[in-house]
Amino acid sequence: MARKIHTLAGYIHEYQRSILDPDAFWTQIAETFHWQKNWSSVVEWEFETPSVKWFVNGKLNITENIFERYLHTKKNKPAIIWEPNDPKEASITLTYLELYEKTCQFANVLIKNGVVKGDRVIIYMPMVPEAAIAMLACARIGAIHSVVFAGFSANSLSDRINDCKAKMVLTSDGNFRGAKTFPVKEVVDEALKTTSTIEKVIVLERTKTPVNMQKGRDFWWHEELEGVSKENIAETMDSEDTLFILYTSGSTGKPKGVVHSCGGYMIYTYYTFKNVFQYSDDDVYWCTADIGWITGHSYIVYGPLLEGATTLMFEGVPTYPNPGRFWAIVDKYKVNQFYTAPTAIRALEAYGLDPVLPYKLDSLKVLGTVGEPINEEAWHWYHDHIGKGRCPIVDTWWQTETGGILISPLAGITPTKPAYATLPLPGIQPIIVDNDGKELKGNSVEGNLCIKYPWPGIIRTTWGDHDRCYQSYFSQFKGLYFTGDGVKRDEDGYYRILGRVDDVINVSGHRMGTAEVENAINEHPKVIESAVVGYPHPIKGQGIYAFAICDMSDRSEDNLKNEIRVTVSNIIGPIAKPDKIQIVPGLPKTRSGKIMRRILRKIANGEHDNFGDISTLLDPDVVEKIIEDVDSAS
Ligand code: PRX
Repeated sequence: MARKIHTLAGYIHEYQRSILDPDAFWTQIAETFHWQKNWSSVVEWEFETPSVKWFVNGKLNITENIFERYLHTKKNKPAIIWEPNDPKEASITLTYLELYEKTCQFANVLIKNGVVKGDRVIIYMPMVPEAAIAMLACARIGAIHSVVFAGFSANSLSDRINDCKAKMVLTSDGNFRGAKTFPVKEVVDEALKTTSTIEKVIVLERTKTPVNMQKGRDFWWHEELEGVSKENIAETMDSEDTLFILYTSGSTGKPKGVVHSCGGYMIYTYYTFKNVFQYSDDDVYWCTADIGWITGHSYIVYGPLLEGATTLMFEGVPTYPNPGRFWAIVDKYKVNQFYTAPTAIRALEAYGLDPVLPYKLDSLKVLGTVGEPINEEAWHWYHDHIGKGRCPIVDTWWQTETGGILISPLAGITPTKPAYATLPLPGIQPIIVDNDGKELKGNSVEGNLCIKYPWPGIIRTTWGDHDRCYQSYFSQFKGLYFTGDGVKRDEDGYYRILGRVDDVINVSGHRMGTAEVENAINEHPKVIESAVVGYPHPIKGQGIYAFAICDMSDRSEDNLKNEIRVTVSNIIGPIAKPDKIQIVPGLPKTRSGKIMRRILRKIANGEHDNFGDISTLLDPDVVEKIIEDVDSAS
């Protein structure tokens, strides 16, 4: 096993080593894995076009490093513990051996249905063990999975299918979420009306929601498994072959398909999981994310399983059947590491301590957060009432594009500081630049967060459009990966993430491109033009505030706002629904027609003056009119 860091001095030593000789540092970690063929060089890279390759010419299969690597020592160890939505339903535990057999068997189902290495398979499923099995089965045969969060609309799903020209969809009849059931297959049917590449759909029976099964296209999961072997020889993958595509929102246009490759992602998720959470062999680890997001990929499935850990998967929501559910699950399984989003913490904090007090929570050793900045107040509540002052909080900063955690404390090893992601992990070289790209050296500086040297989990390309990868991350500051985040390095050298500096809003830890939401709003026939900005929201971190110019001739304002929300929900999904809509007579624009979002952002933030120079506006009066009517936003 690659060395786990045990002390602060150990961290400092490993960090130095990783910077002075990255090849030796990563070699030592990668050598503990099973490679079918060794790599010829550790890393070959440039950030100009960009091109990044790790463990060049190495051959491997990530699932061999989860299963074959552990079967002689851990075959009876729980790999996945699954807790259903309904606490009265039985939970499921899959040992490493059972998960291995199910993965192999489903890999054979994929093969039987014509999926071959390199094909794209969409996974649009609830949080059930089969979703993880589906990912692993794809990885086993070299098919590229693209998990789409099951809360996205039919339109979003079909966009993703079309972008990656997927051949198969794996889905379920329905999805239990708290007291509700969602008809997942129905959404797939709707999406497939506007796609042409899907040959087969395999449907898991979960909710027994009635579904239409199209003959020759749709097949039941359990029927497909009948008589299929539980043995499968893993496909040989090149280190740089694509492992998966995950779509994420950017500041412009449609979501882009972030591409991660096999070798580097494997090493990076493993190493970061092990060290950030300080996992020990008998621990039960729980990350509450959905597998539709990168956190679910890296820290429910791949990172923990590559470490041979026990990872808990929860199907439901934190408030069902009551807001003590998370804490009940922690006690039920004696969870040792608990990893969630600040939004969930704030939402549960709002219920007070009554839902927490019945639970012991004494198994907890480490608490984690991810996805958005955590405010100091929520940090203290989490620390005091959930961790009982005993558990270090790892505030982990990273992105879909980074594959794994880049800046975070190592639990119990390096210091924590409320609201700070603190220090870079070994191998990570952050750099802060001003808007002209000049490096801001030393401490007590604030600017744009970039990374100047590759790490194994870095994005390789955006699917089907490499230039978009360059434009999105490598064009702003020459020779650097630009994260899109603002950051402060304080007097002690600790990093505090300040939030996005581009046109991306982070709603409950989920990324929304303002342009994407505007495009959806503009689809409503009565909307003439719109502009979307983020504003501080007490639970969600940021809420979506839409300013819209509308034809109001035949609708009440309330009706129109409702219709706009439905439109956005249909086009993107309920998570993109604006929290506030203000109907406005005009938008502040420069003479060249560019919307001055800076002004709208201030208005949405409750600031009604100090707009700076607005003389360049086409119609400066419009700002006054918007402010006068700001209370109508709802
Ligand atoms: O703005 C940062 C914020 O989430 C963005 C990445 O979003 P996504 O790709 O959806 O990945 C979320 C899960 C890794 C970042 O650019 N973010 C993520 N973690 C933190 C954070 N902001 C502050 N603190 C964090 N710990």
